[in-house]
Amino acid sequence: MTAPTSPPPSRRAAALRAGGVIGLAVLVLGLATLGACGWNRGAPSPEPGPPEQPKDPVVGGLPLFHGWPKDAKPAAVVVLSGQTFGYVQPCGCSRPQMGGLERRAVFVKSLRDKGWPVVGADLGDVYPPKSAVEEQGKLKYRLAMDALREMGYVAVGVGKAEFPVPGGIDQVLGEYALQKEQPPFLLAGNLLGVAGGQPQAREDRFPKPPGAARPMVGLAEVADAGGTPVGVVGVIGKSTTEDIKKVDPSVTFDDNREVLKKAVAALDAHPKKPRLNVLLFQGTADEAKKVAADWPQFAVVLCQAEDPEPPQFPQAVDGPGGRKTLVVQVGHKGRYVGVVGAFAKPDGGFDLRYQLVPLGEEYVTAGPEEAARKANPVLPLFDAYAAAVRDRNFLGKVVKEPHPSQLQEDKLNISYVGSERCQGCHAGEHARWKGTAHSHALDALEKVAKRPTLRNFDGECVRCHVVGLNYRTGYEDQKTTPHLAHVGCESCHGPGSGHAADPRAANLLALQSPWKAKPGDRLPPVGKMKEIAALPAFERGRVALKPEEQRVINAVSAMCARCHDAENDPHFDIFTYWPKVDHAVPKK
Ligand code: HEC
Ligand code: HEC
Ligand code: HEC
Ligand code: HEC
Repeated sequence: MTAPTSPPPSRRAAALRAGGVIGLAVLVLGLATLGACGWNRGAPSPEPGPPEQPKDPVVGGLPLFHGWPKDAKPAAVVVLSGQTFGYVQPCGCSRPQMGGLERRAVFVKSLRDKGWPVVGADLGDVYPPKSAVEEQGKLKYRLAMDALREMGYVAVGVGKAEFPVPGGIDQVLGEYALQKEQPPFLLAGNLLGVAGGQPQAREDRFPKPPGAARPMVGLAEVADAGGTPVGVVGVIGKSTTEDIKKVDPSVTFDDNREVLKKAVAALDAHPKKPRLNVLLFQGTADEAKKVAADWPQFAVVLCQAEDPEPPQFPQAVDGPGGRKTLVVQVGHKGRYVGVVGAFAKPDGGFDLRYQLVPLGEEYVTAGPEEAARKANPVLPLFDAYAAAVRDRNFLGKVVKEPHPSQLQEDKLNISYVGSERCQGCHAGEHARWKGTAHSHALDALEKVAKRPTLRNFDGECVRCHVVGLNYRTGYEDQKTTPHLAHVGCESCHGPGSGHAADPRAANLLALQSPWKAKPGDRLPPVGKMKEIAALPAFERGRVALKPEEQRVINAVSAMCARCHDAENDPHFDIFTYWPKVDHAVPKK
């Protein structure tokens, strides 16, 4: 299976071939990348096409819950998710996009509406790997945990994404587990502290907050799924413990054999007498299969995804007495959830069924904005998040790096001047740019984005919808830098104060077209671009391009792809897109 979020080969190759200044620009932006988006379906289709009508999802050609007993209600249903990596909501940049907590909540409710007894469990890796501003990562983490609680999750594992945060795991716990004792509870039974060079008990390293009954990181929980007690245990696998130890010397790990023995004994002795046990195993599938074979007490083991695109079916690992353990993977970024249905058998055991569910647009909360917010308790959480991002002025805290042009001519202090300034001498180009979507790109965040609104205050969105957010003298906010709102001339051409002040200076002129290796370099004529765009991918090679043209195409394409990346715009194709934004004015 192919990774759904990697660019199609042509674009990846283009990005690789692009050298020089463009390469540097890509690198600088790459570091500032936020991972706000990225829920697109596998293969990008060449044409964006009209928005799809919501349909019931079909997985592997079959409707959901195909083959599940029709005449019986499951005794318990466990919704499994994990490795969301801060992907809380699709950005809406292109369609269709998958995943997000809003849709997950709608899906979980659709199960409850059937009268099914649902409990949720998440593998962990909830924390976003990069944020515009670190504080925003914490806010997003808490948003995710609060949303899981609204959905009826009982437990969340602890993954390596929870560690490389400044301030470490303690910052993450401070944001959530320390605040209040409430589900979902964090589980990582083999996590220990280090004190005086020696291992320190989990209960001492992550103690009970004042007034609480549990340590901040636990071993096992038991939830009630409509009368069926479900036990959930969390441990971290060997390979992952090694990775965590490298980034956080304040923790170490217990031997999982001992820990799982304790966990199984604790579940056996639990007053609620759990009948269905789930293991959140933060390790690889291979490790998980071994654990599943050794511990048949767990009916389900959720492990890390080998591929962001999860397998349709779990692997069944044989245990003693014909028992089977399902080893489940649910992919990355919350685009899918796994659902285990446990149907009671006459012998007191369960017949387990599994369904992988892609969270497509059919699960967007129905109704106008007000009604949707009443129907889906996750939506008000997003509103509060977006308001906090605005009120805490995270946009103003975005780190500004020097643009490659600013590095090359640093003595001149080249700065952003805004598209109006260019208009003075390039009226024709300006008029044509005005007619493109770029000239009002910030409106998408202010007026189109609805769940939540206020995205024009969120640097994770704003950076691609304005001029130079991540660069010195670039966009700050609508009040301070209104001339840098929207995708302007300098979003592509780079900061222009030097050239605007001295239009004849060749070095400054060159900086405005960093995709050129030499002055005469140009994209192929628009007519030729359109001709190529009309061809299917496999026939495009037949249209002869000059080597210089091909090089400019690659360089420009890589520049566009800083914003039109595989996550935010999987349909991007330079041959189709350039003719729509070409702004050259015929020379007289
Ligand atoms: C990496 C760059 C990038 C980031 C980050 C980004 N966008 Fe976009 N956005 C784009 C691009 C490119 C398009 C145009 C896509 C297309 O035409 O298919 C777009 C289009 C949109 C549109 C559609 C506009 C319309 O008129 O239909 C919306 C809405 C939007 N983005 C919202 C957001 C939100 C909300 C965020 C933050 C969560 C965000 N964007 C973050 C690049 C980005
Ligand atoms: C004071 C007038 C003036 C202003 C302001 C100005 N330009 Fe120019 N620009 C020129 C002139 C004149 C040329 C043609 C130079 C030549 O061919 O020697 C030019 C050429 C260009 C070129 C073509 C370079 C090439 O390789 O053919 C680009 C791109 C460009 N300008 C972008 C911009 C941008 C972006 C801005 C705003 C930041 C801007 N210009 C502002 C006068 C101006
Ligand atoms: C989406 C990116 C983008 C934006 C926005 C943009 N340009 Fe360009 N511009 C380009 C590219 C790429 C070329 C090179 C075209 C080619 O090689 O045929 C170019 C070419 C030019 C040229 C040279 C045209 C020629 O005939 O050689 C000028 C002048 C120019 N742009 C000015 C502007 C001005 C002024 C604005 C804003 C009003 C602007 N551009 C906005 C990407 C952009
Ligand atoms: C700074 C980020 C950025 C860069 C660089 C950029 N774009 Fe865009 N582009 C956007 C955003 C954001 C939108 C969506 C605007 C909207 O619809 O509100 C967009 C929209 C478009 C659209 C309209 C898409 C549609 O569905 O109608 C085209 C075409 C396009 N861009 C082409 C290009 C090309 C070609 C390049 C490179 C030469 C480029 N863009 C570079 C951010 C960018």
